[in-house]
Amino acid sequence: MHGLIPDKLPRHLAIIMDGNGRWAQERMLTRIIGHQKGVETVRVIVEECSRLGIGYLTLFAFSAENWLRPKTEVKALMALLKKYIASEAARMDANNIRFNVIGNRDELPPDVNKAVQGAIDRTSGNTGMILTLALSYGARQEIMTAATRIASDIASGVLKADDLSETAFASYLFTGGLPDPDFLIRTSGEMRISNFLLWQLAYTELYFSSVNWPEFTPAELYRALSDYQARERRFGRTSAQINTRS
Ligand code: FPP
Repeated sequence: MHGLIPDKLPRHLAIIMDGNGRWAQERMLTRIIGHQKGVETVRVIVEECSRLGIGYLTLFAFSAENWLRPKTEVKALMALLKKYIASEAARMDANNIRFNVIGNRDELPPDVNKAVQGAIDRTSGNTGMILTLALSYGARQEIMTAATRIASDIASGVLKADDLSETAFASYLFTGGLPDPDFLIRTSGEMRISNFLLWQLAYTELYFSSVNWPEFTPAELYRALSDYQARERRFGRTSAQINTRS
């Protein structure tokens, strides 16, 4: 129906959900209404990705830098996150989705953390799509934390400096255990990475949609995915090498 090739879907799709504020301001609504509308899009897109058979979906929901927004907006976003996570846990479970979080969880309010832990525990036995929310997440902070932990493991003898490889390094990141994203979508026309998954995006295909997140529909998702399916991923090799699989 959507014309997508099922075995050429990204295994891991990451999304920077941007434009809630602008969507609201264009309609003379408060930014918070924009975020509420954004939550509706999250529900729809999560279920659509799970139905399509995408293995991993990672959503940038709240950055380490977002704490600097006005207090009322931060409070409203935290309340929305808590409500979403608590109310969706049952639906995630029904869809066999496993819930996961990356980011600095210590900085989240205790009630949000409790909801996060509840959803992780409730869905931990599921075998379908892994839904990861990036909360209080910043990629440079993630890399710094990994480097600090590696230094301490080397100092205590848990890790030998000679054994440090890209794979070993990656296992110290919040995303340890997740494959790197194959495809990144950012909405609202901004063409930036904004401190999201800097290590993991090394070979990711990037896609920028001009649509604000509250208006990002399944049709827009299919448009992005069919664009992905038309691309040739070379990982530094030549086109001829890819086509002859040499
Ligand atoms: C960007 O819009 C979006 C965010 C900062 C947060 C994304 C959050 C949601 C979609 C709602 C909560 C999430 C979940 C998973 C329940 P913006 O405010 O930066 O928009 P602007 O750039 O137009 O100001």
